[in-house]
Amino acid sequence: MADVRKFPHHLIREIFEQPEALRRTIEPRVLLADGEIRLDEVRIAREELRSVRRINIVASGTSRHAGMTGQYMMQELAAVPVDVDYASEFEYRNPMIGRGELSIFITQSGETADTTAAQREAREKGSRTIAITNVEGSTIAREADGFIYTHAGPEISIASTKAFTAQMACLFLFALYLGEIKQKVSRALAQSYIGELLALLEKTETILAAADRVEKLAELYYRVDDFMFLGRAIHYPVAMDGALKLKEVSYIHAEGYPTGEAKHGPNALIDFRLPLVMIATCDRSDPGSVLRYEKNVSNMEGFKKQGATVIALASEGDAAIPQIADHTIFIPSAPELLSPILEIVPLQLFAYYVAAKRGLDVDRPRNLVKAVTLE
Ligand code: BG6
Repeated sequence: MADVRKFPHHLIREIFEQPEALRRTIEPRVLLADGEIRLDEVRIAREELRSVRRINIVASGTSRHAGMTGQYMMQELAAVPVDVDYASEFEYRNPMIGRGELSIFITQSGETADTTAAQREAREKGSRTIAITNVEGSTIAREADGFIYTHAGPEISIASTKAFTAQMACLFLFALYLGEIKQKVSRALAQSYIGELLALLEKTETILAAADRVEKLAELYYRVDDFMFLGRAIHYPVAMDGALKLKEVSYIHAEGYPTGEAKHGPNALIDFRLPLVMIATCDRSDPGSVLRYEKNVSNMEGFKKQGATVIALASEGDAAIPQIADHTIFIPSAPELLSPILEIVPLQLFAYYVAAKRGLDVDRPRNLVKAVTLE
């Protein structure tokens, strides 16, 4: 069992291990003399990858939230249409998957029955399959055509944290790799993104260094019964996982929603009794991100008019959000496609501190297991 002596629980230790997990996952694949991205374990020829016309991402729980960020990354960088499925639902939609398509199965344990079953079905239908997993030699890694290992180290706590950020780093690397193969990404752009990927290590440390601010926030809110997490575009999966983390470890009812979807129903719930976590970061170098940011500011002002309490994630240097939100957690600036890797960290910390203050078994939440090996 990994050493928890320095930390009271595996969960908080694993949250703090994320810079090292990211380093071990990213560096061996990018720090190469020729500047190439090394993903040999994918074991699918570049020519075949070049002709891939559609990608299916299939996973469960937190791993599926990583897959949701992968959809944005691959559609943006490789211009390939991507679908994301719950592994437990995959077989019911009679997936029209076949040759010329790639299916990616994300599973920390490599043993989740829904996911291993979905991989078998995709292979039977003629799709090439890749597993992204944290356990070398796991069932999914042995049975898929290729794999990309997250090198996050053993993840003991049932709620997934360091494996999740490592999964997103692997998905980004693969999106960049595929984008170069499909000549959608120039070598210069790839090199720039690799630099940004490596810069995440220090930025994650910066966020962790301010963990006490998140703990103080948890002190204010650990008694509430409901939470809503809102995020737009690639930040929507972050909202989903922030909500899942809180549900899993603190048993508080928490929902994740696309920010723009709140007006179609959930808005009826939003008043002073329902704290909102809103992801409102902005990559100023990306016009699309600026437009989405402006919509987030407008939505936040509307929720405040309804009496909501807002905890906002904003980019460092943002002077507008702190004037609107009740609390602001700052995130170091990063390209929008990489920002989920940073944004989830304070939400992981928040879920941990809330659960710890509620006196719960944060590493082994009731009714949950680390790998659901039956369908
Ligand atoms: C659940 C875990 O049982 O399985 C989640 O509680 C996890 O944390 C999900 O995300 C999927 O597990 P895996 O191993 O397939 O990524």
